[in-house]
Amino acid sequence: MNTVLITGASRGIGLATATLLTQQGYSVFGTSRQPQTSSLNGFSLLQLDVRDQDSVQQCVQTVINQTGHIDILINNAGHNISGAVEEASAEDARQLFETNFFGVIRMTSAVLPYMRQAKRGHIINISSLAGIIGVPYLGMYVASKHALEGYSTSLRYELRQFGVHISLIQPGDIRTGIVSVPHSNPVAAYDGIREKVTAIHDSNVNNGPPPEKVARVILRAIRSRNPRLHYLVTTGQEFWVPWMRRLLPDWLTEYFIRNAYDIT
Ligand SMILES: NC(=O)c1ccc[n+]([C@@H]2O[C@H](COP(=O)([O-])OP(=O)(O)OC[C@H]3O[C@@H](n4cnc5c(N)ncnc54)[C@H](OP(=O)(O)O)[C@@H]3O)[C@@H](O)[C@H]2O)c1
Repeated sequence: MNTVLITGASRGIGLATATLLTQQGYSVFGTSRQPQTSSLNGFSLLQLDVRDQDSVQQCVQTVINQTGHIDILINNAGHNISGAVEEASAEDARQLFETNFFGVIRMTSAVLPYMRQAKRGHIINISSLAGIIGVPYLGMYVASKHALEGYSTSLRYELRQFGVHISLIQPGDIRTGIVSVPHSNPVAAYDGIREKVTAIHDSNVNNGPPPEKVARVILRAIRSRNPRLHYLVTTGQEFWVPWMRRLLPDWLTEYFIRNAYDIT
């Protein structure tokens, strides 16, 4: 039976994915920083903080001890900070990257030796549409997802020889409880517009599709014999974002993004 390890499965996209994969017959291990129970919706819930190397090693070793292999790693754990880029301290950015970027590196490096040895595996990194475009008042989150895109795209070339696939899932706004923590150095010059744009972000998330939509795309990626690098999960106008990025000049892309966030 295929063994799946998915980080951050206590709620949101991680929970929806772990639940769906369990229903589909996979042997699923989900994680939480503070698990309240040892199993959830039929899958095992392990303790994991992706910011902590010892925690990562212990989690991976637990799965290996129980099953002998990890076939699919889903790097989903993530969080969000928002505000003007100027308002973010270097420490804000570092904390965000510890989860969204370095957490993925820690998990991937811990699991890869087992996948290389088995000459098979699939690593699925949860990126975002924010991994391919700039978004006002979400700049640090955007930076963390762009880093993830560059890392994964490069790693894919290196892992092919070992039969290990790597894919990036790029959801648009998804209706989860993801919390956006404000940057720690507010600058009065951004008052008003910061709140307006943040309200648009929040409204987009609250009106987005449920996380089960992402889970179904992840299942499709896992089942593919030849997994793609990118899988989009978009609704409505979001569908055009990657095309806009590829086909339009920067000035026109910026015009559309400014309009979408009502900043002129
Ligand atoms: N929601 C969206 O609109 C959206 C869109 C595009 C991409 N994404 C991406 O999708 C992923 C999941 O987001 P979501 O919306 O489902 O968020 P969420 O509902 O807030 O869930 C985040 C999950 O990550 C876990 N987590 C947070 N920090 C962690 C850490 N340091 N170590 C281990 N686990 C940690 C949380 O578990 P505990 O708190 O129990 O530890 C939780 O299960 C993220 O990578 C996010 O960037 C979300």
